[in-house]
Amino acid sequence: MKCPACGFQNLEEARFCNRCGKKLDRGCPACGQVNPPGSKFCHACGAGLIKTPGPPPIDFTEPQSYTPKHLADKILTTRSAIEGERKLVTVMFADVAGFTALAEKLDPEEVHRIMDGCCRILVDEIHRVEGTVGEFRGDGVMALFGTPIAHEDHAQRACHAALAIQQALVPYGEEMKKKHGIDFRMRIGLNSGLVVVGSIGDDLRMDYTAMGDTTNLAARMETAAEPGGVLVSEDTYRIVRDYFWFRPLGSIQVKGKETPQLAYELLRSTQIETRLEASVARGLKELVGRDDELGALTLAFEKAKRGEAQVVDMVGEAGIGKSRLAYEFQKSLGEEAFFLTGACVHYGRNMNFLPVVDVVRAAFSIEEGMTEEEVKGRIVVRATDSLSPMIPFFQSLLSLKADDPRFTMLNPEGRKFGTFEAVKNLLLAVSREKPLVVFLEDVHWIDKISEELFAFFSRCILGHPVLMLSAYRPEGSPQWAQGVHYQRLSLKTLGSKLSIRLVRNLVGGLPLATDLEKKIVAKTGGNPFFVEEVVRELFDRGDIRKQGDHYVCDQPIDNLVIPNSVQGVLSARMDRLNEDLKRTMQVASVIGSIEKSFSDYQEAVGIARQIGDKQAELGCLCQIPVLIYNSTMEGTMPRICDEGLALARALGDKGAEARILTSFTHWRYVWQRSNEFARMYEALSLAIESGQPSAIGYVRGMLTLDERWAGNPGRALEHSEGLIELFRSLFNIFLGSAVAFLRGWSLTDVGRYREAILLLREWAGILEQNGVYVHLGRCWNGLGWAYAEIYDFQTALNFNTRALSNVLALKDKSPAIIYAALEMQGQCEVNLMENNFDLGKVDEAWEHIVRFERESARPEYDMLRDRWSSRMKDLKAAILLGRGDLDAAEGLARECLEVGRQRGYQKYVGKAQSLLGRVMTERGAYDKAEDNLRSAQAVLEKVGNPKQIWITEGHLAKLYEKINRHDLAREHRQAAAKVVQKTTDGLSDHQLREGFLNALPVREILIRAEQ
Ligand SMILES: Nc1ncnc2c1ncn2[C@@H]1O[C@H](COP(=O)(O)OP(=O)(O)O)[C@@H](O)[C@H]1O
Ligand SMILES: [Mg+2]
Repeated sequence: MKCPACGFQNLEEARFCNRCGKKLDRGCPACGQVNPPGSKFCHACGAGLIKTPGPPPIDFTEPQSYTPKHLADKILTTRSAIEGERKLVTVMFADVAGFTALAEKLDPEEVHRIMDGCCRILVDEIHRVEGTVGEFRGDGVMALFGTPIAHEDHAQRACHAALAIQQALVPYGEEMKKKHGIDFRMRIGLNSGLVVVGSIGDDLRMDYTAMGDTTNLAARMETAAEPGGVLVSEDTYRIVRDYFWFRPLGSIQVKGKETPQLAYELLRSTQIETRLEASVARGLKELVGRDDELGALTLAFEKAKRGEAQVVDMVGEAGIGKSRLAYEFQKSLGEEAFFLTGACVHYGRNMNFLPVVDVVRAAFSIEEGMTEEEVKGRIVVRATDSLSPMIPFFQSLLSLKADDPRFTMLNPEGRKFGTFEAVKNLLLAVSREKPLVVFLEDVHWIDKISEELFAFFSRCILGHPVLMLSAYRPEGSPQWAQGVHYQRLSLKTLGSKLSIRLVRNLVGGLPLATDLEKKIVAKTGGNPFFVEEVVRELFDRGDIRKQGDHYVCDQPIDNLVIPNSVQGVLSARMDRLNEDLKRTMQVASVIGSIEKSFSDYQEAVGIARQIGDKQAELGCLCQIPVLIYNSTMEGTMPRICDEGLALARALGDKGAEARILTSFTHWRYVWQRSNEFARMYEALSLAIESGQPSAIGYVRGMLTLDERWAGNPGRALEHSEGLIELFRSLFNIFLGSAVAFLRGWSLTDVGRYREAILLLREWAGILEQNGVYVHLGRCWNGLGWAYAEIYDFQTALNFNTRALSNVLALKDKSPAIIYAALEMQGQCEVNLMENNFDLGKVDEAWEHIVRFERESARPEYDMLRDRWSSRMKDLKAAILLGRGDLDAAEGLARECLEVGRQRGYQKYVGKAQSLLGRVMTERGAYDKAEDNLRSAQAVLEKVGNPKQIWITEGHLAKLYEKINRHDLAREHRQAAAKVVQKTTDGLSDHQLREGFLNALPVREILIRAEQ
């Protein structure tokens, strides 16, 4: 216990001070009651008197130890989207004024303690606005706002934090004065600029490089600040000037800078919180467009007025005009309705009931600056009759002491329930006097409990004259976005005509030079806020001036810069988009929303170009081809790949170049029938040179696919070796499962059935568990085929049936992947036909063929028809052959051969030749038959497919028997038996093996080889 008189630190149980002998009373921190020395609890109120030991000192070397968990989680989940990005941030330097003198005066331990207490204040305030401490220095900190957690309002946050720090340091300084007799004050400097974020470790340590002198200038601002003050640079000032009061200090000379720098002293925040308030303060310009939207709002209000309550959400990007629309709507209502606004703010996600408090205050007509008594008075006046029992809930909501002692006894659920009821009843009571509009602003920042409350409210308003209106960015929807009375109003960008009108209104009605207007419209993409900022920037920089009856620009128009305020908004949007996109690619929910992903990516490319972020642009240009090469959007491949390749080369990014080259080559292979394997291998060496695992993985994955189609399953297996593990480690289910089914197929191709089945079953399980249905059908389809290869037709049939229903569901769900879906459908249908044929149900198989031939005559099946139609023809020919229709069988066999050769599908070539050989045998054209069967055998040996090999060997044996070459017949029977035997050996699974050995064709081969 510390002596209040001399400050000596006594033992906790001491009754008198060891140093000065004064009696040590214990004042209760809760009620003020003086207790005898040594007391542990207050005898008046029961509060604990012994202070629990303070928190352990901060470990400045371990970011994990001082970063709150919710921030740490946020950083770790988004870091992959941030690493390597250029970010516009605000840098803060905060240092103790006169630290050296102070350090000389006190002993080091004391200095350490003082700094520890001070850093705690700094860290708290910095974290409150989601900034990060970049570095602890002996006499202060350097902090970043805007990274690693992206915030478009980083500069505002930094200013709020700086002011809060200075405010919190006032009592701390007084304490230090008393304790140590020192002046303890800090200087703070802020500057905004670009940094490149390097890696972010699991321990939250972040590497970054400042571009130019972003950090340097912040440090200089700090040095130039008054003790206790905050100084900001020109760049920061420009971003936040509407939201804070500043004292301009003019140009000051700073160390390391030739030209003097403008500096501004940060004084305090204005009442202005939102962009729209800032615009109102500057003077709003005429509203352009938005007639339809205003009409929709008016209509909704008319309905609400009649008692058909409405819930309307206005959704659109930052700056698109949501708040403005609400403002205009409110104006149009005049006195006809109560209009209560609840605003969410960027730092409010963890502040319970923030917008609710706004709405409730407005409902009670409580104004800024009222005393507690006045506020209580307002509540009592309004909360009469059935509302009066709810008064304690209103009091507690508005941070007043609840008068009713029973209130404090409620458990949290009781309080929550009561608060919800109270707010609902209050608002419905208001609506009985006059129709009510409740407007929730910036709902993308809403806290959980407010969201829950308003969702509850939205269900209670049916039948009341209430319109619940809200505005948010398209980052997800609040819980109330549903129901019969709900509608969503999407705000689009302004067209070029309206944009130009806005530009002219901003400069006072005069036109600008035509190309300048066009350029502004292009740069801003029809976002009114961007238009305002770009025009303002032009004025601020003195770049445009009046000439006669219009404005001209003195700068070359290409230099038209995007102001920092807009840059920030765009970067933050890019980050969000990026996160979404990364998720889409990884989870492969890509299918089903492929059109949306495509347009998201195009939007991302657009933004990246606007802000000149080449890395981000290239990132998107790498992903788009993966998304679309198999879709109905494949036609844009050449353009997108050309752009991507040019950019990759310009940036020297070999990994990206390799990926795009691969997608493009693959696309040409599939759609333009060109065989460019050499290019694929070029891409592979590029990827290897780049050293990027994801690039190498992608190229090898594509090679797996293409090599398999080209009849080289062995090579496909080599390429896919270790790839599944790679994609697993990158959490990429989409590519991981794609490689898995390709590998499963290739394993089946070469007769490694057991491995194939294990792998495909494993991945079918993973995909099913994660609800990722795209590749699930492929895995089932692969299983259906693998089981058929080892003559387990019943199991095969089961899997093929499942696969088919999966495909049919996908086909309906996602029009964009229709080609791939139809191809898969073809594969599944043919598998099923084959199963029935092999089960002896020849007529059923035949009917299926006829049925599917009719269905697949539609042109959309043409796109990837060759991949499955040969198999169907092959089966059809086998049936015809069995029925003795040799001409028809031969015709089909030749067609199959043709397609196989054209496409380079080696296995189909072999199968077709084998079939032709059988037809020739039947015809008695033994020479031709021998030719065909022998070349079939050679091709199939190369491909390595055991089943086709033993079947062909069997046909050869039959042929030689016919021409009385029993020696050769025997040789081939034995060769067939050898392949079968080897396959059996590979089936270590007892059940699989028994099933296989008991299959009739297998038994026949083995028995006859014995003879
Ligand atoms: N249709 C419009 N006509 C004129 N100015 C507009 C229009 N829409 C928006 N603005 C202006 O653009 C700025 C941004 O609009 P705001 O409503 O704050 O966007 P949001 O709320 O969607 O982020 C404001 O200054 C606003 O006055
Ligand atoms: Mg707004």
